[in-house]
Amino acid sequence: MRSLIDILELSLEEIDQLIATAEDIIAHPEKYRESCKYKKLATLFFEPSTRTRLSFEAAMHELGGQVLSVSSAGSSSAAKGESIADTAKTVSCYADIIAMRHPKEGAPMVAAMNASIPVINAGDGGHNHPTQTLADLLTIWREKGRFTGLTIGLCGDLKFGRTVHSLIAAMARYTGNKFVLISPEELKLPSYVKKDILQKNGIEYVQTTDLESALPALDVLYMTRVQQERFFNEEDYLRLKDSYILTPEKLEKANKDLKILHPLPRVNEISVGVDADPRACYFKQVLNGKYMRMALILKLLEVEV
Ligand code: NCD
Repeated sequence: MRSLIDILELSLEEIDQLIATAEDIIAHPEKYRESCKYKKLATLFFEPSTRTRLSFEAAMHELGGQVLSVSSAGSSSAAKGESIADTAKTVSCYADIIAMRHPKEGAPMVAAMNASIPVINAGDGGHNHPTQTLADLLTIWREKGRFTGLTIGLCGDLKFGRTVHSLIAAMARYTGNKFVLISPEELKLPSYVKKDILQKNGIEYVQTTDLESALPALDVLYMTRVQQERFFNEEDYLRLKDSYILTPEKLEKANKDLKILHPLPRVNEISVGVDADPRACYFKQVLNGKYMRMALILKLLEVEV
């Protein structure tokens, strides 16, 4: 039995297989309509979410399975002081697989150690978000046709943005990728990600505060929201929240083949005027997330179609 806590638990071959399954689901959805019949997914979300929770739930429904859902910490026994371990043991009695989001880094790992069913990390604090990375990977694959030789700009809150940490870990495993890390000084990529992922593997990267001058060299631009909920003080958030706003004017200097991704939700960092630009991929990315979660559920439940 396997869980998914960190994207690096999946080999490159397994990523390829998940993408192949997602592509097959897109081409032949009818084949999968009953693959998870009588199986139950529990979504345990102790932090706000729209896309991740609903896409897991939509994924399970489209596989013919059923869903049990806790959508806030306040509505579950966590509010009474129940431990993650006890919650995981309990939910293992009701469901076949768990998707968990939690404000504490490492909480889904603790759940996986105590559950008797697979646990998927649906975002743990400012740490990791492997299934968003699966959505990002399918998007890059479908839009760029390759995972190698790309100049990838990541812009915004690189410190608290868990999707950024998981995406860098995933893309650093392919050859010839370069990273341009665009953030205010205060929101730079954590040094553990720089050391353990980029420096250890000899990956080329630059850090800058300037989006506009970085834009022309990019193949992929991954915009992120400033993570208000992880700030200790409101003043810092207000000062930093509008550090970057991508507009159609700024994009005039960008590559014609640039692909713009964003895990969403968007606040101010991409103006709505950009949505009509053919380079904007963030709503396709939402849909891709559902297909990759379907592929992942099939894999972890060891369902053969
Ligand atoms: C992201 C998250 O929760 O980390 N959202 C998502 O899952 N698509 C990004 C964010 O909240 O900014």
